[in-house]
Amino acid sequence: MEQLPEVTDPRIIDGRKIAQEIEARVKKDVEGFVSEMGVKPVLATILVGEHPPSKLYVKLKHWACKRVGIISEDHKFPSEVAQDEIIKLIDTLNVRPEIHGILVQLPLPKHIDERVVMMHIAPEKDVDGFNPLNMGKMLIGHEGLVPCTPKGIVLALSLFNIDPQGKEVVVVGHSNVVGKPAAIMLLNRNATVRICHVFTKDLKSHTRDADILIVAAGVRGLIKCDMVKEGAVVFDVGITWFDEKVYGDVDFEDVLPKVKLISPVPGGVGPMTIAILMEHTVTAAKKQLKLL
Ligand code: GUN
Repeated sequence: MEQLPEVTDPRIIDGRKIAQEIEARVKKDVEGFVSEMGVKPVLATILVGEHPPSKLYVKLKHWACKRVGIISEDHKFPSEVAQDEIIKLIDTLNVRPEIHGILVQLPLPKHIDERVVMMHIAPEKDVDGFNPLNMGKMLIGHEGLVPCTPKGIVLALSLFNIDPQGKEVVVVGHSNVVGKPAAIMLLNRNATVRICHVFTKDLKSHTRDADILIVAAGVRGLIKCDMVKEGAVVFDVGITWFDEKVYGDVDFEDVLPKVKLISPVPGGVGPMTIAILMEHTVTAAKKQLKLL
């Protein structure tokens, strides 16, 4: 992993450091898997179109695979591809025993129904946790392969000894990738959870109550100081690209003096998401080969 300045402010969650720790563990796990099974875990990624951030994220995922000893297969389609073509590829990957994880990078072009695509990924290979069976299991409290970003948030909370039980959690954004699963996973841990979104009337009246605030709206600088409770724990999951730079949903400088903990953008939940994806790929491989 590239060398970056160390985060010294104890209020800032160093997602890169946490990711390195997860990856070190996964790398050892991969070594054990290889010596036992004689094969490496394999992750297949599917990228549709030329969306620059998606291309970057997929590249970062392939780099992470290389670091931990996972083989990655790179599948790409042009943006005009028919939904059936993607599903045909998924069907092929589903039945290839040497493939342990399948990831379709989101968002997909408008003419493709992401939900239908996710439904076709074999649940045991669904390392992103987006298949409705894995989502449904999560909903009833059986967390197996769950979405990676919310899992990173839950992990960070435990690393900082913050128990969500009884806490006021406010999630801003109701996507299937972050908002909804984050809300469910915190609810599974007995938090009191509110989900706000683009149609919420008075956002501030909700966010101000949050002991734990998770923001995944995709609106640069949406959350200002006056919208945050003193001593809150804030996870910024928003990503906006502007002028080749990446910005979060939280006005970091404005909010920092008020928080107990905050995950920055970049260097917060992003690297953790990728590290957890690696973990899921090894777990999926072990389960498929009956090691778990
Ligand atoms: N797009 C934004 N976040 C994610 C993610 O965690 N997984 C996939 N597949 N696509 C994404």
